[in-house]
Amino acid sequence: MTGTLILGIETSCDETAASIVGREASGAPAILSNVVLSQVEEHAAFGGVVPEIAARAHVEALDGIVRAAMADAGVDFGDLSAVAATAGPGLVGGLIVGAMTGKAIAAARSLPFIAVNHLEGHALTPRLTDRLAYPYLLLLVSGGHSQILLVRALGDYERWGTTIDDALGEAFDKTAKLLRLPHPGGPNVERAAAGGDPKRFALPRPLKGEARLDFSFSGLKTAVRLAAEAASPLSNQDIADLCASFQAAAADSLGDRIGRALTRFRESFPGLADPVLAVAGGVAANRTIRAALEAETAKAGVRLIAPPPALCTDNAAMIAYAGLERFEAGFLDGLDAPVRSRWPL
Ligand code: KG4
Ligand code: ZN
Repeated sequence: MTGTLILGIETSCDETAASIVGREASGAPAILSNVVLSQVEEHAAFGGVVPEIAARAHVEALDGIVRAAMADAGVDFGDLSAVAATAGPGLVGGLIVGAMTGKAIAAARSLPFIAVNHLEGHALTPRLTDRLAYPYLLLLVSGGHSQILLVRALGDYERWGTTIDDALGEAFDKTAKLLRLPHPGGPNVERAAAGGDPKRFALPRPLKGEARLDFSFSGLKTAVRLAAEAASPLSNQDIADLCASFQAAAADSLGDRIGRALTRFRESFPGLADPVLAVAGGVAANRTIRAALEAETAKAGVRLIAPPPALCTDNAAMIAYAGLERFEAGFLDGLDAPVRSRWPL
């Protein structure tokens, strides 16, 4: 493919990833390669991501991952238009590895460098997968973030809600840990919940009914801990019931917040022909959460878009694509662009 070609690099958490994304003559974006190496096994024994281990694993893997992304796409460094790397938010050791690698390639090949905000990568993914037009509403629910964002235009985001304590994925992971289910917890909680009774334990619905659009999940996790202690020793059925009750409470709380956000979205853009809520982040894979979102969007007359799981969870195609939009808009960064562990959109 000729035209614009961007190399994207992602190393903000526990995935080492590289991707080539281009723009076809028709205007359609194309993913030419998307290579993701998960470090899940390196961290499993610790029940969570260990920053020092993550940074070292990125150093070891990244060169090979970049080479694999170039080879899969059939492109050479000389074909690239620019290099984009995640510069935050995330674990600073990993961010340094990815950004320095991106800058080194850019310097060696005299290419522009683009420092991408990881959250912008998630926010723009539905434009890569579904060519969605601005504006739209985005729900990001991952291990590190729970946010409702209004995506107005490239670089123009309005945060309508965020978590005041834990992210939703974090609440799933902590619930799994306290019930001694393996890491990463989300999929294991969902699996256990399938055989459980969601009504057995009466758990709180944090912030339900409140006008603000924020989330809170740490009280819910604490309620699970107290219920688990009261029911101890736990049988497999107890664990299944706790997982099902937690999942139902989380979906109910999330659904309430999203329902309010959708009402505000409809009121803010009454003439919008195709109002859309897009979801991103690993928790979007959860079927109970998905069902709550489907119910709320149907009620509000809003279309729900969920990109394929491989593009909902952390990957470099979303970073390359954000880099592509930034490159086309002339938003370039210098080789002195900093990495930032905290970087709100
Ligand atoms: O987006 P992601 O891959 O990485 C970041 O955190 O940035 O999200 C991972 C999170 C983890 O907390 C994981 O437990 C959660 O998404 N997750 C799930 C499910 N699959 C992944 N949570 C609930 N149900 C699932 N099926
Ligand atoms: Zn992410």
